[in-house]
Amino acid sequence: MASQVVNPGLEGIVVGETVLSNVEGELGRLTYRGYDIHELAPSVTYEEVVHLLFYGVLPSQSELDAFAAKLAGLRTLPPTTLEILRAIPRDAWPMDVLRTGISTLSHVLPHQPSGAHVSDVDAALGLVAKTATIVAAWNRLRRGLEPLAPRADLRHAANFYAMCADRTPTAEQAKALDAYFVLLADHSYNASTFSARVTASTNADLWCSITAAVATLTGELHGGAPSQVMDTLEAIQTPDRAEQYVRDVLARGKRVMGMGHREYKVRDPRAAELDRNAKEVGVQTGSQWYELAVALEQAANKVLQEEKPGKRIYANVDFYTAPLLADLGWPKDEFTCVFACSRVAGWSAHVLEQYAHNRLIRPQAAYVGPAVHALEPITERPPHDLATNGTAAGAVR
Ligand code: COA
Repeated sequence: MASQVVNPGLEGIVVGETVLSNVEGELGRLTYRGYDIHELAPSVTYEEVVHLLFYGVLPSQSELDAFAAKLAGLRTLPPTTLEILRAIPRDAWPMDVLRTGISTLSHVLPHQPSGAHVSDVDAALGLVAKTATIVAAWNRLRRGLEPLAPRADLRHAANFYAMCADRTPTAEQAKALDAYFVLLADHSYNASTFSARVTASTNADLWCSITAAVATLTGELHGGAPSQVMDTLEAIQTPDRAEQYVRDVLARGKRVMGMGHREYKVRDPRAAELDRNAKEVGVQTGSQWYELAVALEQAANKVLQEEKPGKRIYANVDFYTAPLLADLGWPKDEFTCVFACSRVAGWSAHVLEQYAHNRLIRPQAAYVGPAVHALEPITERPPHDLATNGTAAGAVR
């Protein structure tokens, strides 16, 4: 039995191997199968990255054309998924809806005696294709609009935009969204990916594993941060108020959302790419979000250095996601869903990698509860005032 907690949060603990992506936190470098994301983001499409993750190589032009057509052919949702989405109250939270939507996809598939469904590359590609369709369907249903059919003439990111906005994106919008999808596709053993791998390690199928990943992405310490960055930008209103806002946040013992990272000790390399894209899209829309984000990052850097000397806290991937997705037209409570539309590729590739080298992931805990003692007969147990005193011995806290 483990006698002490090795490292809460598993910080610095290597729990497995992957060939899919590498986060070099001190260098601020992220690579997918050896390709630097700074090279990938401006020059390849999301489909190329999905091909790279699943097949290990970037496709030739003819391979890409065939692969993109294959993905496009998998976008349509089963009718039961759409029926279930229609039955959900319109004020439901988008990440709750996505979690349910992903889960429904396997209902229509034949299952094995164990209850699991065949989980291979084709199944994973179906999930990559359909996740965006679920998010787009809910984007419209919650506004009282009919979901739009996927368009086979558009690439993945542009089609996603068109299914939400009911118009073809400009070349600049399509490029910015595609680059966002490229940048978010994978990130080693982040919390949601690890969650997917833990689930897969029990031999649960791909849909179970991805549903677990979606649930894990939800929290504000992981994928839930960009909508809170947007809350901050809305609260600041003008760049000159950024510094006071940061001081107030820290004075309340809160965190500046979109800043800090477990792995990166310098600025998150994805933030640099998203910064550039958010700037370009912001110029087109003429909104104030990008300008506010720049002011907030500068203020946060300055104040955090003053208040936490010796700690290095920089913008992470979620920071410039907020102005970018806002200027592309998404409501802030759907930002995490858009993140999931990209990351589903990484999750699925990790799940397949887990199956290929599986060992049940089952860590230990250091037991710190009461020592072994005799069972009290029910007649001898004292009354407990649980309603007003949740701290009765043994209450979970
Ligand atoms: N604002 C203010 N202080 C921050 C901070 C932030 N965004 N991020 C980290 N810190 C501080 C912590 O308060 C802590 O200080 P302390 O030691 O004086 O208590 C120190 O930096 C270490 O923080 P810790 O939470 O242990 O680091 P971590 O590696 O576990 O956390 C995050 C990483 C991402 C959870 C954390 O940076 C955070 O909460 N960021 C905001 C949420 C966010 O943007 N999430 C998306 C991540 S991609």
